[in-house]
Amino acid sequence: MDQLDISVIPGDGIGKEIVPATLQVLDTLADLHGGVKFRYQTHPWSCEYYLEHGRMMSEDGIEQLKQTNAIFLGAVGNPQIVPDHISLWGLLIKIRRECEQVINIRPAKFIEGIKSPLAEPNHFDFIVVRENSEGEYSESGGRIHSGKDEIAVQNAIFTRKATERTIRYAFKLAQTRKGRVTSATKSNGIVHSMPFWDGVFNELSAEFPGIETESNHIDALCAFLVSKAHHFDVIVASNLFGDILTDLGAAIMGSIGIAPAANINLTGQYPSMFEPVHGSAPDIVGRGIANPIGQLWTGKMMLDHLGLNELGTLLLRAIEDSIAEGVKTRDIGGSSNTQEVITHINSKILSY
Ligand code: NAI
Ligand code: MG
Repeated sequence: MDQLDISVIPGDGIGKEIVPATLQVLDTLADLHGGVKFRYQTHPWSCEYYLEHGRMMSEDGIEQLKQTNAIFLGAVGNPQIVPDHISLWGLLIKIRRECEQVINIRPAKFIEGIKSPLAEPNHFDFIVVRENSEGEYSESGGRIHSGKDEIAVQNAIFTRKATERTIRYAFKLAQTRKGRVTSATKSNGIVHSMPFWDGVFNELSAEFPGIETESNHIDALCAFLVSKAHHFDVIVASNLFGDILTDLGAAIMGSIGIAPAANINLTGQYPSMFEPVHGSAPDIVGRGIANPIGQLWTGKMMLDHLGLNELGTLLLRAIEDSIAEGVKTRDIGGSSNTQEVITHINSKILSY
């Protein structure tokens, strides 16, 4: 039997509710498979941990994480007791950086039974591959002078290494999907980095002759995600553009409570991290009504990443069937609570 070690960080707020709940489903899937077992190492790292220890994670925390096969994280943040920049940089960003999770991927898919704000969603199903280590989000730059003479300079950093690995990942992913890659660019306005990005995209497209390619300027692409979301398959984007596109993707799905994300370590040297898009939702904490779908769906991404695609497919099927049958939390128009959704999804999995 394969034993997989999973680092579990419930974090703050509803993370503490939905993470334990979703582990029940992962265990059901493992039992069904028979050949795999998950061993969880659960860490209390959170804002409360910070109040007690003066740090967001234990001193050897990163080392502990690096010993495991994947990281399953809920949500981090409790601005009432710890400022967001401290909790974010002390845990999430620290893990992303030190575990070299250089790519962020986020699927967006129309789900029957969840009202999309799009008039004609047409069963859209795409995934955004976002460069997660450089680009527009760099610390290069500065501010000088003050008053009327004040100057701010913010540099965008695009290395060939990071650009290539991101775009190559998108092409490979498209080979397992519908075979189309759309590149987000803005080479008509950003005259150095974006023509460079386009050049790398064109070079790599020659290595993947079976893949259909197109480049869209980011502004037009945002409009297309509203007018023809169903057209897209894999969208590859720089850090800033990907950030914008993924929020748009979550919005057209109909609720932030269902959107999943994964931070990928490409070499396999360190674990990747799987987390929902939403935060700790302090406004609904403790009421048992948090939607567990975003956390479950990121569990599906983790299963796929660990090579357990069969289980991942089963999990997504159970999520979709359960929603179509009306077992859903109130943020997506239902009246079930967290545990009722989990119990129903568990029984769906066992019924297949
Ligand atoms: P949020 O995503 O926690 O909540 C936004 C709204 O969506 C709230 O009304 C909330 O009730 C609702 N919501 C979110 N997830 C839901 C779910 N699973 N089921 C039902 N409703 C859900 O964003 P907010 O309020 O801006 O941030 C709260 C805290 O979370 C902050 O400290 C913030 O920094 C942190 N945060 C952490 C993230 C992470 O860990 N990756 C991502 C976003 C925010
Ligand atoms: Mg964002």
